[in-house]
Amino acid sequence: MISIAIDGPAGAGKSTLSRKTAENIGFIYVDTGALYRTVGLKFSRLGADTNLCCDIEGILADTTVDIRFVDGEQRVFLDGEDVSDDIRTPAASMMASAVSAKPPVRAFLLEMQRKLARENNVVMDGRDIGTVVLPNATVKIYLTASAEARAQRRYKELMDKGTTVTFKEVYDDMVQRDYNDMHREIAPLKQADDAIVADTTECNLEESLALLLKIVKENADI
Ligand code: DC
Repeated sequence: MISIAIDGPAGAGKSTLSRKTAENIGFIYVDTGALYRTVGLKFSRLGADTNLCCDIEGILADTTVDIRFVDGEQRVFLDGEDVSDDIRTPAASMMASAVSAKPPVRAFLLEMQRKLARENNVVMDGRDIGTVVLPNATVKIYLTASAEARAQRRYKELMDKGTTVTFKEVYDDMVQRDYNDMHREIAPLKQADDAIVADTTECNLEESLALLLKIVKENADI
């Protein structure tokens, strides 16, 4: 099987670009952030805040997270309920970042991600795919852009969806999340030694996609 690991900070365009790359080369796209968001949603629904002063392992033992592909699109299920839309709010983003720093949560999701890559040709995006989940990935890409550019894109995305937030809120959340993701003890966001860096600060979507496809085709036998 061939695996393309795409890591990088929030808002670098990982999901959109990974999905389009997967479509282009006929692989399935696995959005691992959605898994952390789903676990985060479970904890929010139980009344936890980002301090997570609760019985994490006990809650996980009573949680099921599934990924299903409907018409090639990934949907995530929490305890049997499709929560693919509920996990996209700014509050869910912060909760995802909080739960993702907890070792039992990472262990809970690890095997599911590896199994998907064992059984399918995948483009998988996240924070630790090239470093921890798939250390032997065929191609590793570290996708990044300046914080300003990333916050602009995320802001536009939220506005298009009708969410009312200010640019400052989006920017501050993003910087805070980057900090959390890069400084946690377990599986922090960092570039794998053998990853190829793709910086899309100056690129529009089309140019970014062309850059990724070029990297993938030059480094994998597709
Ligand atoms: O990519 P995203 O914004 O949907 O990810 C949500 C959070 O999940 C992010 O703050 C960090 C965490 N995450 C992670 O720790 N490891 C991954 N492989 C993917 C996401």
